[in-house]
Amino acid sequence: MKNFTFHVPTDIRFGKGQVEVLPSELEKLGRKILLVYGGGSIKRTGLYSTVMDLLQDFEMYELPGIEPNPKLSSVREGVRICKEKGIEVILAVGGGSCIDAAKHISCGAYYDGDPWDLMLDRSKMTQALPVVDVLTICATGSEMNSGAVITNEETNEKLEINGPILYPRLSICDPQYLYTLPESQTAAGTADIISHVFEQYFQPNDGAYITDRLSEAVLKTCFKYGPIAMSEPDNYEARSNLMWASTVGLNHLLTVGKGGAWSVHPIEHELSAYYDLTHGAGLAILTPAWMRYVLCDKTVKRFAMYAENVWRIQTANPYDAANAAIDRTEDFFKVLGLPGRLSEVGIGPERFEEMASEAVRTSGISDRSYFPLEKEDIVRIFERCA
Ligand code: NZQ
Ligand code: ZN
Repeated sequence: MKNFTFHVPTDIRFGKGQVEVLPSELEKLGRKILLVYGGGSIKRTGLYSTVMDLLQDFEMYELPGIEPNPKLSSVREGVRICKEKGIEVILAVGGGSCIDAAKHISCGAYYDGDPWDLMLDRSKMTQALPVVDVLTICATGSEMNSGAVITNEETNEKLEINGPILYPRLSICDPQYLYTLPESQTAAGTADIISHVFEQYFQPNDGAYITDRLSEAVLKTCFKYGPIAMSEPDNYEARSNLMWASTVGLNHLLTVGKGGAWSVHPIEHELSAYYDLTHGAGLAILTPAWMRYVLCDKTVKRFAMYAENVWRIQTANPYDAANAAIDRTEDFFKVLGLPGRLSEVGIGPERFEEMASEAVRTSGISDRSYFPLEKEDIVRIFERCA
């Protein structure tokens, strides 16, 4: 097992009714609050009113309209409000997109230039406002990690800003808020959690046995409860297990003692940057194709381990087990109603080359990933899922 540091300072309040702690916890951080939210789901579900009622003694400002695949223009607007009003705390109520926008705004508020500069040169990120969130979709793990993914709509770049000052101070995770999710978002969120685990699981591992076993447990949780959450949206057991799976899936726990650059996410981020595709839908399309592309003598043992420990598939030939597990993974995404082909989401081959170049340029996929991929490899993966 490699040496590691594990320090995740986010205070998680998980379960029914936890939103009630907001006033007492925010009080410790400041009185001027910027409420960051999306396109209106929190107004339809009543969560907006709940939060505003709880916080009636605070000085509230609002940044609505955060897009799925949040845009730099929204971050700029948030930074402007923070500076103009002297905001003390940012409260994101929504999914990964709102939390990510809040994180980028939080450090942009302390920077004199354009917030995109911080994305390109992290040494400029020195300080951040505290971020608190109320999570309404489980997928990204943003509620307990230090990353934020933002799209620069002027350049079609979707990049991640990351740093220890970006951990949310407090995340309220009440599984009941997931009951109103459209099926497509439940499915996409589940695919995202699964992909996060794969990105960390399919890495070299020199003795971090526990990390692989924890990963398999999170995968099994998603495979068990994803379909239940789809057919019974208000099944608390399913929603609560998926919600905790999303947090554990990307709060560094599953990467400690091992690690390396990711593979499918950098490719998907190009799809969602260029075509504004839902992140989890892009991952569902790409993941089985990536798995088949990288399956070889170097990787087969780990794929067979995935087959045996997650799907209980045992065969004499490890390739048979690996292929069967990849088929099961692909079938699972289909059962959730996720797309399996780029053509299903209106993406043609026109920009395969450009997106593949960008994926290589903006990530460690060609040198530090489990199975390093060059531009030509990525184009072939795109072609296989066309
Ligand atoms: O905008 P509103 O109206 O709120 O609707 C949202 C949005 O349309 C809706 N929604 C959320 N909660 C709901 C709800 N609708 C009904 N009831 C509810 N309870 O769902 C839609 C998607 O929301 P979004 O926040 O975009 O979803 P998600 O959490 O999947 O976030 C996706 C973004 O996070 C990035 C993705 O690339 C994408 O930009 N990621 C962030 C990561 C991180 N910070 O660590 C890692 C991930 O790999 C990922 O890249
Ligand atoms: Zn993801």
